[in-house]
Amino acid sequence: MLDVIVPAAGSGKRMGQKTPKQYLKLDDRTILEHTLEALLKCPEVGTIIVALASCDHYFETLRLSSCERIRTVTGGKERSDSVCAALELVTTPYVLVHDAARPFLKTDDVERLIARCLEEKACGGILCAASTDTLKLEDKDSLRIEKTLPRAQIFKALTPQLFNTKLLRQALNYVRDKSLLITDDAQALEVLGYHPLLVLGDAHNFKITTPSDLQLARAIIAYQATGADGS
Ligand code: CTP
Ligand code: MG
Repeated sequence: MLDVIVPAAGSGKRMGQKTPKQYLKLDDRTILEHTLEALLKCPEVGTIIVALASCDHYFETLRLSSCERIRTVTGGKERSDSVCAALELVTTPYVLVHDAARPFLKTDDVERLIARCLEEKACGGILCAASTDTLKLEDKDSLRIEKTLPRAQIFKALTPQLFNTKLLRQALNYVRDKSLLITDDAQALEVLGYHPLLVLGDAHNFKITTPSDLQLARAIIAYQATGADGS
């Protein structure tokens, strides 16, 4: 069993709504509830530690707030500060970190990530998705193409990401001491010279970031509710 950290202390600036995006509803449940329910279904998941903004008054209104497998901590200014705060409560030697804004997590993906990391005795590993579009690098100071990037070698970083707990603590403390800005946890290990595994995951596990992502997520949930996708 692994503890899981769910950073949920962001304000969702790119979503542009007053309510933080993790508390926007997909059906009768919020994004965060969908995410937590997906994690609770995974047999390998033990305690879930959710990092909340210091001013959060939404979480306590959720039915899952009384779930005994879920604990909460106060997050921080950056996502990495929130993960750091939650790490204080982690008691398992390996830990998963999963964004609150990724409600479409499949149990299979979690199982494959854990199995691959243990098999390879890796310092960590992340779920990722192949890049399907052709990727262009922008010229330094204009909206012109400098060059095309080699797509076969480029992957989108998803979550969950799995790490050796001690190593993640060390890496995130280093990042904090040096005031480095990182956008996922694997990057903290990369800064220390580690190379976490890339494990292909389901592309449905996207992060709800913008209003169009929210529209897509609601359409997927409505489609799933018809039973037409077999789920
Ligand atoms: N997060 C967090 N603490 C922060 C910032 C982000 O716990 N200080 C969490 C978010 O709640 C989210 C996850 O990290 O579940 C991924 O971050 P992102 O998608 O960037 O969410 P926000 O930071 O809320 O969105 P934005 O960047 O548009 O403001
Ligand atoms: Mg953010």
